[in-house]
Amino acid sequence: METELRQLRDEALAALEKIGSSAELEPFRVKYLGRKGGLIAGLMRQLGQVPREDRPRLGQLANTIKKEVQERFEEKKEALLAAPAAAEAGVDRSLPGRYLPFGRLHPVTQVMEEICAIFEGMGFAVAEGPDVETDHYNFEALNIPRHHPARDMHDTFYVTDSILLRTHTSPMQARIMETQEPPLRYIAPGKVYRCDSDITHTPMFHQVEGFLVDRIVSFADLKGVLTSFIHRMFSDDLAVRFRPSFFPFTEPSAEVDIACVICGGAGCRVCKRTGWLEILGAGLIDPAVLTMVGYDPDRYSGFAFGLGVERIAMLKYGIDDIRLYYENDLRFLSQF
Ligand code: PHE
Repeated sequence: METELRQLRDEALAALEKIGSSAELEPFRVKYLGRKGGLIAGLMRQLGQVPREDRPRLGQLANTIKKEVQERFEEKKEALLAAPAAAEAGVDRSLPGRYLPFGRLHPVTQVMEEICAIFEGMGFAVAEGPDVETDHYNFEALNIPRHHPARDMHDTFYVTDSILLRTHTSPMQARIMETQEPPLRYIAPGKVYRCDSDITHTPMFHQVEGFLVDRIVSFADLKGVLTSFIHRMFSDDLAVRFRPSFFPFTEPSAEVDIACVICGGAGCRVCKRTGWLEILGAGLIDPAVLTMVGYDPDRYSGFAFGLGVERIAMLKYGIDDIRLYYENDLRFLSQF
């Protein structure tokens, strides 16, 4: 009796081991653990026929075996029901999960958003315009007639004679002024295109245009707005200088420099030993531009500025080659 009990136990556990699908569970249970026709129950029923003195010991053994098979059966059932497909396909459920890298914003996008946020804080509204622009808005409306030498500065990509990829965001000045009356305070971020490529130029780059038109706007207003922008963007004590320049659509015009962020103004390779770095162009809107959109230049005046986003990001983060932005190398991009 004892041998039979132990044999049945080994047989049952071996059979249980072989079970690979949940469909095999019920036949196993009926065969071994079934209350009426089960093999274990069958043996237990025979206990009545063994000698009286052996009965307690064998009865206990039978109970232990029944309990063991029952427990192992429950374990198997749980494992199979938890992930039936995985178990049946031989998948290792203890493998660690696959790592999904997080996406993040491109450094140019981050800096552009930061620039816009600073101007929005000063009450400027944001507007966007088309990348494919007409000659009229890109040049004519900005006081740059055909054959004007200033066109040479722009290295324009032409689509047709009168359609082009905008070379700056300044066309948005004319587009907005044409449809609205002062007072106006706008910034216009976006892509611009010039046929140019080296370590400081890419054929596509980003600018943020800004302009303000109202009664009695002076150069002092322009200086105040741009200086506080630069201090917010870089640091509160950074030296800023306005240097006379020329743009056909502003008069007077200036280029704005900041103390070199690499050498602090002492002079180095990056600032070409001048101690200064140019970061934007600006000026008071030329009366000819105001007249073309139908404003009376004796009544209204305004200022405008245009800044290069890649350039500002390069200075802010110490990036020395503009092409890094557009090579999509994750070792570079994931640092921001
Ligand atoms: N549009 C000029 C450029 O691309 C920058 C600028 C904008 C200058 C507004 C003056 C006023 O270089």
